[in-house]
Amino acid sequence: MLMLGIETSCDETSAAVVEETGDAARPWAIRSNVIASQAAIHREWGGVVPELASRQHIRDICGVVERALREGDTTWRALGAMAVTQGPGLVGSLLVGVSFAKAAAAAAGLPLVAVHHLAGHIESLVLQNGELPLPSVVLVVSGGHTSLYLVDRPGRYHLLSRTRDDAAGEAYDKVAKLLGLGYPGGPVVDRLARDGNDRAIPLPTTRLTHADRNAPDLKGDLDFSFSGLKTAVLRYVRGTGALSGDASDGKGSRPPFSEQQIADICASFQRIVVTTLVDRAFDAARRCDAKSIGVAGGVSANSRLRAELQMRGARREVPTFLPSLQLATDNAAMIAAAGLRKFRAGVTAPSDLNADAALAI
Ligand code: KG4
Ligand code: ZN
Repeated sequence: MLMLGIETSCDETSAAVVEETGDAARPWAIRSNVIASQAAIHREWGGVVPELASRQHIRDICGVVERALREGDTTWRALGAMAVTQGPGLVGSLLVGVSFAKAAAAAAGLPLVAVHHLAGHIESLVLQNGELPLPSVVLVVSGGHTSLYLVDRPGRYHLLSRTRDDAAGEAYDKVAKLLGLGYPGGPVVDRLARDGNDRAIPLPTTRLTHADRNAPDLKGDLDFSFSGLKTAVLRYVRGTGALSGDASDGKGSRPPFSEQQIADICASFQRIVVTTLVDRAFDAARRCDAKSIGVAGGVSANSRLRAELQMRGARREVPTFLPSLQLATDNAAMIAAAGLRKFRAGVTAPSDLNADAALAI
């Protein structure tokens, strides 16, 4: 069966065709995965502007879907079902995808599946690598989320911990903005960090020990917090006298640092973020007796995170899994994959489906 997936939760308009292979170990194959990025539009503003994002989704959605069908060498008639991201995300952006999907599914007579964006990121690991050895601990780390999940059965995701404040990708974006490196910050900081000394700047690691008042079921000590680290970078930059007044609103002007100083700040910041992420993931895996560890979401494209995860996985003999770079950041192939999982479990969306910016998994 062919599944058409649609993703519009943030600033990427994406449509993809994914087919079932019939092989239980590697259940899905990508026929097409078209992504129209709005990064160039939002770069000018230093971050995603929700109103501009939803307007651009409206402009792009029809062309992106048509191209996904063409590149997937298929037609509306040959599809078996559709899947769409219902949430979480920017509500105006989500609404474009959900409205389009509902209308198209009704017109083509196709069943529609509503997908949680983070379930999509988790299933990107299966799309890339085949079914994971279960139970698996999966870290979803993106611009909007930093959460650990336990997957004990295919399609069942239990939240173990999450960030109390900023997501890791958000911290990357804010530090990049502070240094005048542009948007999105993750890829630039990653690249510049390669030439830096990762011990040059003393920055703090945050370890939470108390329970989260807003999520009393979670233990707390596996939780993340990145806002203190971001503030420490700001304080360091201020302390050097490179910023006068409050430039943390980041209008894009670059503080007067040498290239080496910028590289050192990027490397020092990145060392703490990556060590925190990898430490918590392995900690959770040990506690849950996990047979595998997966890391998905935009930040899983990070070169240091990928290298450390694989190195430590090999050393501790827990297999680790990552998506390809294209499947790491937002895309519709992962939504189609998660949609196929749900469709085969017999779940489809009601006809009054609505976008939900704060959807729970
Ligand atoms: O999953 P994603 O495409 O969108 C969300 O659901 O948020 O993730 C985007 C985030 C951005 O914050 C971006 O800066 C970050 O992923 N990112 C990276 C890298 N590539 C993208 N962060 C660190 N290193 C990278 N190479
Ligand atoms: Zn995402």
